[in-house]
Amino acid sequence: PRDPVAKLLLFGATGDLAQRMLLPSLYGLHTDGLLPAGLTITGAARHDYSDETYRDFAKKALDEFLPEDRKDESAVGAFLDRLFYQPTDLSDPASFQPLADKIGDISGGLAIYLSTAPSLFESAIEGLQSVGLAGNTVRVGLEKPLGYDLESSREINDAVAKAFPEERTFRIDHYLGKETVQNILALRFGNSFFEPVWNAQGIDNVQITIAEKVGLEERAGYYETAGALRDMVQNHILQLLALIAMEPPAHFDGADVRDEKSKVFRSLRMMKPEEVPHNTVTGQYSDGAVGGQFVKSYTEELGKPSTTETFVAIKAHVDNWRWQGVPFYLRTGKRMAARRSEIAIQFKAVPHSMFAGRGGLLQPNMLIIRLQPEEYVQLLVMAKEPGLDRDGVRLREVPLNLSLDAEFAKSRRRIAYERLLLDLIEGDQTLFVRRDEVEAQWKWIDAIRAGWVANDQKPKSYPSGSWGPNAAVALTERDGVTWQDD
Ligand code: BG6
Repeated sequence: PRDPVAKLLLFGATGDLAQRMLLPSLYGLHTDGLLPAGLTITGAARHDYSDETYRDFAKKALDEFLPEDRKDESAVGAFLDRLFYQPTDLSDPASFQPLADKIGDISGGLAIYLSTAPSLFESAIEGLQSVGLAGNTVRVGLEKPLGYDLESSREINDAVAKAFPEERTFRIDHYLGKETVQNILALRFGNSFFEPVWNAQGIDNVQITIAEKVGLEERAGYYETAGALRDMVQNHILQLLALIAMEPPAHFDGADVRDEKSKVFRSLRMMKPEEVPHNTVTGQYSDGAVGGQFVKSYTEELGKPSTTETFVAIKAHVDNWRWQGVPFYLRTGKRMAARRSEIAIQFKAVPHSMFAGRGGLLQPNMLIIRLQPEEYVQLLVMAKEPGLDRDGVRLREVPLNLSLDAEFAKSRRRIAYERLLLDLIEGDQTLFVRRDEVEAQWKWIDAIRAGWVANDQKPKSYPSGSWGPNAAVALTERDGVTWQDD
């Protein structure tokens, strides 16, 4: 049941995420009439704005980050009227009373969005509690990174749990807000023909790629302490893996979907330190050309030497009945040849080819789910080339195409955060990450990191604009598998 709150409190209201994503998303919901009628949005951050100057700030952000065709002066004006602002220093307990006064009555429900450094979570929560802003009906949304390893993630979760029970804690992984990611569920569980072959008998291997063209993007402070494994694999890639690997949930709701994902995380094969070098490849970009543009190396951008990985490829296994023996190849990197998020499911070859004697070659079928920048699902199937076949049968792999972009051209492409903010406001946890999920993810990630330390595994250099170090190619090739589309 939808249970909308009357007030939203946005910590980190002047940050990069707020400007690029949160304010444009809230505006999007506003223009579609999806925000509760009287909903007010109070921004809080260190910056010394008033309501008026924060509205100016928000207007500038919308100007910069909304697509042209979404800008509408009167809608922007009405949206800005919902905004208020209170200067707040999360590390200063004295900051909270004025904030509580500003927000006033919360009997209509309050949702809090913490888009701040996790080092401030604890003091924020204590402060909120001390002034009654963590009461019975208050929900809290937490932006990543949710820790640095299992231990720090537990500390954050414990601190949050002191004030907010799990049913009111909304851990954000913005990949779950993406339409194409939710489409994985529609594809698997809204159709009957995939599920019977969706297992070790039908599938040879699964590849998950999130490749980016961008580099450090002024986030050196954070990225240097994170690296690709923590930044992308621990959350986004493992969430995608869980949606591909999970058993069919009984209901599309927060309890059942998250129970099934959680089982997948608990089934991930833990790597022993000595197994890590064989199953992982790390890389760091050197200079090179990305899309015709010359770009600097990671360490040049950073301004100092570093062993942080900007690329990682992993061969993973889900040790359960359904997936025994099926490798899941995962890779992600910055400064790659293209921006592309994609899942490629390679099916098993036919057991016997009747075309072999006539020279016809078969490729095993592949299902490609392209999440971005384009949104499509493609099934590669074998077809006969037209002809009389006197020199042998000619078979060719051709795509069965479902372009979600074209099929749903009339619907507006939403920012992933629109869905997540609305679900936070209305209290639906299905697309948020539960504590047990996050901790199981970290446990698996920590084992890999421990292996890197034990084996002194350092990232290999790869040129910007490539597909990562050669060793990443070798990781799959030695199993006779080629990364899709290289
Ligand atoms: C964030 C990471 O979680 O996801 C960034 O911190 C990364 O490093 C971003 O660039 C990618 O998100 P998207 O939606 O652009 O694929």
